[in-house]
Amino acid sequence: MIKNASPIGVFDSGVGGLSVLAELVRQMPNENYIYLGDRKNAPYGSRTTDEVLRLSEENAKRLVDLGAKCLVIACNTATAAAADSLRRTYATIPIVGIEPAVKPAAHSACRRVAVLATPRTVESARFSELIRANSGACELIPVPCPRLAGMIERGEDVRDYLSELFASLGYVDGIVLGCTHYPFVKNEILAAVGRAVEIFDGAVGTAAQTKRRLDAAGLLADGGEGRVSFISTDGDDAYIEKFFKEVTKCLFPKM
Ligand code: DGL
Repeated sequence: MIKNASPIGVFDSGVGGLSVLAELVRQMPNENYIYLGDRKNAPYGSRTTDEVLRLSEENAKRLVDLGAKCLVIACNTATAAAADSLRRTYATIPIVGIEPAVKPAAHSACRRVAVLATPRTVESARFSELIRANSGACELIPVPCPRLAGMIERGEDVRDYLSELFASLGYVDGIVLGCTHYPFVKNEILAAVGRAVEIFDGAVGTAAQTKRRLDAAGLLADGGEGRVSFISTDGDDAYIEKFFKEVTKCLFPKM
């Protein structure tokens, strides 16, 4: 039975969604969380849409079976492939999916914005609609990054990859981090661009939306200290837990 103290289930292909989990914990420290990273099957961005859908369904089922009162899809690729289907399957619980922060970018003072995301996200109908609906004074340039999430997942050096990417892009004054792995290389992205640019990340809006949805459903935790537990589908749960501790230290030094 779902209770206010039941956990919020959060999933991603791997460690990327920890950037969203950190923001969820910052905005809702009293909640309990279960984070599932599907490291066995990462990266999702170069898989077929059907594969991402099937893997997302497995992740969601596992979290719901563990008693999740709500699901946060902390993966832009999985949201594009599976959010509609998961909302049909689990119609009684709130399901929030992260999407590239295209809207705040389009409403900012920026004039030429690169929207970085995985190939599967960029090819999705949801993404095309997001770009179409927000096109106007600000030019939005979709930039598929086929290898970037995998490199970040494996802890590889991304500097050469990013230098080449931005050299071919020309002038931009804004960048949307349309994959939850990308905030972990924000400094490397800024260095590759080589000048001041505004960065847009969907994590803040996703966490705020999760809070609103739980509040509307009367499902916010009553108080007390929240707990976070971690599952990695490759069996190394401790790896994700350790990564999360490092992430929170670096994204929110005061937390
Ligand atoms: N972090 C995910 C996203 O936001 C997926 C990255 C991947 O596994 O390719 O799109």
